[in-house]
Amino acid sequence: DWKMDSFVETTIKNLREKIGDGKVLCALSGGVDSSVAAVLLSKAIGKQLTCVFVDQGLLRKNEGDEVEAVFGPKGPYELNFIRVNAQQRFYEKLKGVTEPEQKRKIIGEEFIRVFEEEAKKIGKVDYLVQGTIYPDVIESGLGKSAVIKSHHNVGGLPDYVDFKEIVEPLKMLFKDEVRKAGLELGIPEYLVFRQPFPGPGLGIRIIGEVTEEKVKIVQDADFIYREEIAKAGLDKKISQYYAALTNMRSVGVMGDGRTYDYAVALRAVITSDFMTAEAAPIPFEILSKVADRIVNEVKGVNRVLYDCTSKPPATVEME
Ligand code: XMP
Repeated sequence: DWKMDSFVETTIKNLREKIGDGKVLCALSGGVDSSVAAVLLSKAIGKQLTCVFVDQGLLRKNEGDEVEAVFGPKGPYELNFIRVNAQQRFYEKLKGVTEPEQKRKIIGEEFIRVFEEEAKKIGKVDYLVQGTIYPDVIESGLGKSAVIKSHHNVGGLPDYVDFKEIVEPLKMLFKDEVRKAGLELGIPEYLVFRQPFPGPGLGIRIIGEVTEEKVKIVQDADFIYREEIAKAGLDKKISQYYAALTNMRSVGVMGDGRTYDYAVALRAVITSDFMTAEAAPIPFEILSKVADRIVNEVKGVNRVLYDCTSKPPATVEME
């Protein structure tokens, strides 16, 4: 793709000129946008770039290690990579909190606090990298009013880090172009084609109070779900899919004993813009296989439900 070819080449050259020998800081989430932005910067200025990756204990199973494998010292890129294992801090803050917006707020604020502490250790930086893409620019430009859910990770990090300027190398690209650039840059396909994952992570896929135990349950259930969807070849046909943990427990039977365990809800949607969405018509054999595996392999779950609702009136996420 000659257009992407030249985008990548020109952007690296421009970044190098602009930044000179300056220091650059990037909040890396492991999502497509921040990953592509980080790799562009890494190619342009190498170790002048520091990426801070916060593991808030609300990521999908193995995700923290996967991000570290790509961006950490054993990965292919030249940069300073800092992984902050802040899991317990987040669990502590979320103790006893059940209200969705309050959970989002706590997760967002704690993220900023952790990031700020790391930034302080690094000292003065010249630039802050943002993985803003063109649709983000349009949305904020239109001043999208009605806030249905607060999105803590769009709209940029506020002014707690001392820096000169924000660098947004993807500002003119649409999502599919960001993916093309990612492939051009040699970023692994599983990162480039990753489905969207909300900033507050599993925190909004566990209805009600978040605990470490519940995170483990939802991670394991979600892992099985994703594995089976991929095996069935549906992963690229569904826009977004995940397992959530309801806060409902119900009675079941296991061997000759009674159980009283959680219900997992499976969600899968097809959408082009995420403003409206339809539940994906996943073949029943696949759902049934996933349900069997989850109740057999994940302790604490005795029931699996499929969410058939469209958006609106439901949303893609549970909270
Ligand atoms: P909803 O649940 O609002 O989700 O229908 C629409 C899309 O937005 C994602 N989402 C988020 N993304 N930070 C994000 O970056 C957030 O706080 C957030 N909340 C929802 C959701 O995964 C879906 O793709």
